[in-house]
Amino acid sequence: MSRVATPVAAGNWKMHVTPDEAGAFFRSFLALHSPREDRTVAFFPPALSFAAAREATAERRDILLGVQNVYWEEKGAFTGEISAEMAAAAGAALVLVGHSERRHVFGETDEDTRRKVQAVIRAGLAPLLCVGELLEERDSGRAAPVVRRQLEAVYDSLEPDHAARLLIAYEPVWAIGTGRTASPADAEEMHGQIRQFLQDTFDEELAARTPILYGGSVKPDNADGLLRARDVDGLLVGGASLQPDGFARICSAAG
Ligand code: PGA
Repeated sequence: MSRVATPVAAGNWKMHVTPDEAGAFFRSFLALHSPREDRTVAFFPPALSFAAAREATAERRDILLGVQNVYWEEKGAFTGEISAEMAAAAGAALVLVGHSERRHVFGETDEDTRRKVQAVIRAGLAPLLCVGELLEERDSGRAAPVVRRQLEAVYDSLEPDHAARLLIAYEPVWAIGTGRTASPADAEEMHGQIRQFLQDTFDEELAARTPILYGGSVKPDNADGLLRARDVDGLLVGGASLQPDGFARICSAAG
């Protein structure tokens, strides 16, 4: 995938939206959101609705599609899993890796996340790596070291040309699905630290080119303020990406 235009607005549908509902969503959404070269719009439908989403967006190559999770093996006896190669063959450009629900509901470790990022790169897709601290980690002053640990686990084993393929989403776990958004200042602070980590680990160019998205209770009303914060290159949106009109507003925020 060539470099994405920023800002990025990405909808993570989680375990919502059937194939029929995906068709209906895009009939409304595409009428509300015209193609724009100055930004990127992406969706992560559930795997079973991916084909319907792809069909509904076939005329709109400005819309990128991704899957919410993959297993790191290419194929084999892994009942219930899909591989990055399968996601690529189905037309995905992106894969979410390390979403907090994968980490905290399904027990994925930093090492699992590392292996999944490697698999996504092997398949020629772009990983959207999610990082973020729990409420107790923030309250005990450990937000920055936790996020750093999550980043190191993935980036320490990546070659620079592979590292350049990642997008990052900072999603403080206490702000996901809770209605409690991080303030633009909170986002700005952590995004700045993530950018600094990339600069220290690689170089200034890679740091500047890596899109860093914010996620956690993004709504049409707060999207603009978050996108205008320094180092916020886009938004990863859960609940508010399920409504075509609200998400179209988010997609045109900040310009
Ligand atoms: P939310 O979810 O927008 O519903 O808080 C964001 C996410 O989990 O990616």
